[in-house]
Amino acid sequence: MQWNEELPDAHNRITPSMFVARSLEEIRFWSRIMKEHSLFLRLGFRCEDTQLINEANQYYYLFEKIEQQSYNLTNQTDPEQMRRFNTEVQIAATNIFAFKRKVLGLILTCQLPGANNFPLLVDHTSREANYFRKRLIELNEGKLKPLADEIIKENVFYLRIMADHAKFIGHLLDPSERKLVDMAREFSNDFDELLFQARDLESMKPQSQTVPLLDQFLDQNRVSVVSLRDFKKTARDLIEECKIKSIIHPLLADHVFREAEHFLEIIDLFEAHLTGKKEFPS
Ligand SMILES: [Fe+2]
Ligand SMILES: [Fe+2]
Repeated sequence: MQWNEELPDAHNRITPSMFVARSLEEIRFWSRIMKEHSLFLRLGFRCEDTQLINEANQYYYLFEKIEQQSYNLTNQTDPEQMRRFNTEVQIAATNIFAFKRKVLGLILTCQLPGANNFPLLVDHTSREANYFRKRLIELNEGKLKPLADEIIKENVFYLRIMADHAKFIGHLLDPSERKLVDMAREFSNDFDELLFQARDLESMKPQSQTVPLLDQFLDQNRVSVVSLRDFKKTARDLIEECKIKSIIHPLLADHVFREAEHFLEIIDLFEAHLTGKKEFPS
């Protein structure tokens, strides 16, 4: 997400201060996410998968280091230094992406019988790594995409992420938690439907990119993301207090909650940029 309070220059290029601030926000958010993915993957491997466990641990420490380094930088950091750091982090994100795809290949060819990582979860975390690396490449290129394109593309990405989360929660809750499993399934259906709607809007581009349609699209998505975010928050609290039966790690519950919060922030930023626009320049 590159749209923040500050506007790009006349050539739709990102300004240096916007570049540093956006880069830091992305790296701080996603390096923690990548670190936690390494932990979740490691927990799902079997005891004998020592090679994979070591590899996951290495990524954990790598992204922990990146996260710490990002907090040593500030919005006043020299843009050139930021650019170099972005490249370094982008390489790390590309590597963890490749690791996740390798693990997915092992699972899908039945080479890890009895391991506990769902293929969709591994694919999901690899999509998040790919999103992170592409975001860093785009930031370093400094060119912003038109707002209307960004709105549809980001929503297509995040709606699928949200639909996956609902599916993971539904499958990792104990089957005896019937009410909560039902609620998770309802969220899964709701987000699958929203994702199809988003893809329909995408296929109707550019004619579908009017301010009223995009505004309504964001409003409708926001309503569902807010209720999923609240459901995740409740689930997280119940898991932390040991009040429900599940095999969900408390950190995973918090992780998916933070990703929903992040999506909401993006929706709000888009909304703020749409407000005041009656139509897009053709
Ligand atoms: Fe994640
Ligand atoms: Fe996720």
